[in-house]
Amino acid sequence: MRLIIDTDTAGDDTYSLLLAMRTPGSTLEAVTVCVGNVPFDQQVENALATIEAAGFSGKVPVYLGARRPMVKPWEASTMHGNDGMSGANPPLARQRPETQHAVDAIIERIMAEPGEIDILAQAPLTNIALAVMKEPRIAKATRHLWIMGGTDNSVGNITPCAEYNFFIDPEAARIVFEAGFDITLSTWTLTMRSSLFEGDQLDEIFAMKTPLSEFYRKVSSTPRQMAEARYGRPISTHPDSLTCACALNPALIEKARDAVVRIETAGEITRGFSAIHPAKLGNRWPEYSVNARVIEQASNSGFFEMMKRALSS
Ligand code: BDR
Ligand code: CA
Repeated sequence: MRLIIDTDTAGDDTYSLLLAMRTPGSTLEAVTVCVGNVPFDQQVENALATIEAAGFSGKVPVYLGARRPMVKPWEASTMHGNDGMSGANPPLARQRPETQHAVDAIIERIMAEPGEIDILAQAPLTNIALAVMKEPRIAKATRHLWIMGGTDNSVGNITPCAEYNFFIDPEAARIVFEAGFDITLSTWTLTMRSSLFEGDQLDEIFAMKTPLSEFYRKVSSTPRQMAEARYGRPISTHPDSLTCACALNPALIEKARDAVVRIETAGEITRGFSAIHPAKLGNRWPEYSVNARVIEQASNSGFFEMMKRALSS
């Protein structure tokens, strides 16, 4: 499959890029960078460094997109350390970013080959919203849009009601969910259910001692320490890379349901909340139709095997 990844490159975003580059049968066509985890230019360097670490220097173009969300000022996350790489400090990559804007690159690539390319959106949805505002036909011309964001009517990771990507730019998320894309949604709720690597799995990765497993060990260290403090055991979370794995290998998806998904933009307490109304309950929002498939369960062991293969050299 052919994929464009829209990313706020830090921590788990990088493993998602590694998966897309190193999974047989997958082609990472382009990387577009969006406001999100850490300062914008740092995210660009993190994307370029990841491409270099994977041995793909010069093969995957990186485009610069939105530097801020649509409406409200942005709040950087401290989850992945100040550099977004847990201080791993990879060498400056030889490859430099493209001059074309990310929004134009998305539109040009999707419209050049309608129905051929998937997009994985693993950052706030600002770039995708801007692209579909500029060229609405990309909604139908994108083969499939995989989104990491929101919660499945459960507790978020930035506020009790919201997950980070949707909280940072709920206006953009709303535009994207109302644009007519064929969407699969992978939520923070799914992350906590299906993406965790426990201590024995982490030991297995660290024992591989390959350059990429070392890359993973270093880049994951700050969020692992935070997770250990919060959950009382050594775990690592993979919201973006699990979403990427499901895109590359949909057989990992064990349970999903069609739903109407709406994003709260006005709520005093609930800004960024993703309201997910399962279609099977009968539509109590008759003015809205089903606009997404929401993953409820994915294979943790299948995901782990894909990740190990990606980190194996
Ligand atoms: C999402 O927010 C970011 O911190 C991660 O990169 C991921 O995309 C998880 O809520
Ligand atoms: Ca991300």
